Amino acid sequence: MADGTLRSEVTKTVGSAQEALWILEHVESHARSGEDVADEARALASRRAAGEPLQYLLGSWPFRTLELSVTPSALIPRPETEQVVEAALRRWRSTRPGDGHAIVVDLGTGTGAIGLSLLAELADETEITVWLTDRSPDALELARVNAGRLGAEGIEIRQGEWFAALDGPLAGSVHLMISNPPYVAERDRAGLDPVLSHEPDEALFSADSADGVPGFSDVETLIRGALPWLAPGGVLAIEMAENQVEAARGLATSSGFVNVETIIDLAGKPRGVVGEAP
Ligand SMILES: C[S@@+](CC[C@H](N)C(=O)[O-])C[C@H]1O[C@@H](n2cnc3c(N)ncnc32)[C@H](O)[C@@H]1O
Repeated sequence: MADGTLRSEVTKTVGSAQEALWILEHVESHARSGEDVADEARALASRRAAGEPLQYLLGSWPFRTLELSVTPSALIPRPETEQVVEAALRRWRSTRPGDGHAIVVDLGTGTGAIGLSLLAELADETEITVWLTDRSPDALELARVNAGRLGAEGIEIRQGEWFAALDGPLAGSVHLMISNPPYVAERDRAGLDPVLSHEPDEALFSADSADGVPGFSDVETLIRGALPWLAPGGVLAIEMAENQVEAARGLATSSGFVNVETIIDLAGKPRGVVGEAP
């Protein structure tokens, strides 16, 4: 256990007693014999003070029931995304599309947080195959590590742009399609928390849609393109920014989705849309 002096020093450097505790626990649990715990803790604290996200320094972070490896190759999984998974699970459980073998697709999987959580949480209820896709080979490498940590069967990992990553025969057979695509508008870049500059740009930023909704182009692509992939009654759940939810609901309804609803996060803010194929 780190002594009180070291703990105070690290707390002072990072400006948070909780973060200091996490750093010290991490350093102590990873210390090799002879390694200087204090030096390593000071080094991590300095990097944190310089703006690196705590999650990247610790190398792992919890998401729902999982402990995931996190690196600068992929977005750090967020609490609001846990709520999107919750909403998707709730809808899937209330409708249970399919014939006992659920086919789940997580588009833009990053660490694998969403798809691997669904696999872990649904495995007792149904046979399941989860497709994890991303355009980023580095993110998929990380998703592969996390899939390996889970040690489960039924995981397909594919690289490519949105639906192009999927195999043609999946068309019309997906029971749950879920995504947390990039949705930050370029015009908002300057006002963002500097800590986000450590995460991949392609995980965060999206172009404005043709009709001018800021940062909406990837959400739009997903809503417009999802229906042909879904089985009858298949569920689509997408995370987005609060100011995109109204446009997304309208687009989902006009694209043919039914039972379209808003996903609310723990702070009470609209943060996504869930709907079903007819
Ligand atoms: C906001 S991150 C979400 C990561 C993870 N699903 C999560 O919730 O933590 C968006 C992900 O979409 C991927 N992505 C961005 N544009 C894409 C595209 N055109 N096709 C496929 N994946 C894309 C990024 O590489 C990134 O991993």
